[in-house]
Amino acid sequence: MKEDKVTIPLLHKMKKENQKITMLTAYDYPFALLIDKCGIEIILVGDSVGNVVLGYESTVGVTMDEMIHHTKAVRRAVKRAFLIGDMPFMSYNISIQEAVRNAGRFMKEAGCDAVKLEGGLDVCDTVSAIIKAGIPVLGHIGLTPQTVSKLGGYKVQGRLAKEAERLIDSAVELEKAGCFAIVLECLPEELARIITKKLSIPTIGIGAGLYCDGQVLVIHDLLGITTGFRPKFVKNYANLSDEILQAINNFKEDVKQSRFPARDYVFHMKEEELKKIKG
Ligand code: KIV
Repeated sequence: MKEDKVTIPLLHKMKKENQKITMLTAYDYPFALLIDKCGIEIILVGDSVGNVVLGYESTVGVTMDEMIHHTKAVRRAVKRAFLIGDMPFMSYNISIQEAVRNAGRFMKEAGCDAVKLEGGLDVCDTVSAIIKAGIPVLGHIGLTPQTVSKLGGYKVQGRLAKEAERLIDSAVELEKAGCFAIVLECLPEELARIITKKLSIPTIGIGAGLYCDGQVLVIHDLLGITTGFRPKFVKNYANLSDEILQAINNFKEDVKQSRFPARDYVFHMKEEELKKIKG
């Protein structure tokens, strides 16, 4: 193992020492290369690949084979970051045996360091079984997009005390089941702070305020490549959509006006070779 490779003990040390953890999604080789180069500690091949890259309406339709395909590409790029594969809907919900088998595919076929799966009290047995098989698990509670239909939409979770208490219980039980960290998605900042204080494992927030041990964003959101609805918690650190559109339009105009390819982009034959060509 490379000396500065991010490991679970390092992530736990970061929580203890109050050093914030950074995590981003990646779905392909070039983006993963750039993210790893920046020293982001965790790279998640999220099932958000479904809506962000594959054009699906939600993450529900994403398959194990699609996840493995994208994760393999990311693996080829990542040298330092801790790499996590996101278990898609129904890859861990039918039986514990199937869950362990699919988690194993992320490790054996795609070279992951860990897997992530959504759910609280209801998935603790599955989490334990996967960990027992030697596979580290990142939990994910709050707004769990795979079960958005059950939750009644993409909305903040745990605003009411009763709901909040259930989420606290879920976080505590996931830690007991052996999760090395937990994603908190779309929670009130106060609740995420309580959970973060209660756990000895790191919390990674997305739409859960400032007091989590780390933060995660979808890379296309951060770069401003996604279109349509932008949740309140997304900060665009760039507006690449506009730059990409500009570049494509410039190419189109250059071709239409015969400005591209100009001299610098063209290959030539030697004069004497050209003369030998008949016709
Ligand atoms: O699939 C995903 O991208 C995620 C993160 C947003 C946590 O689950």
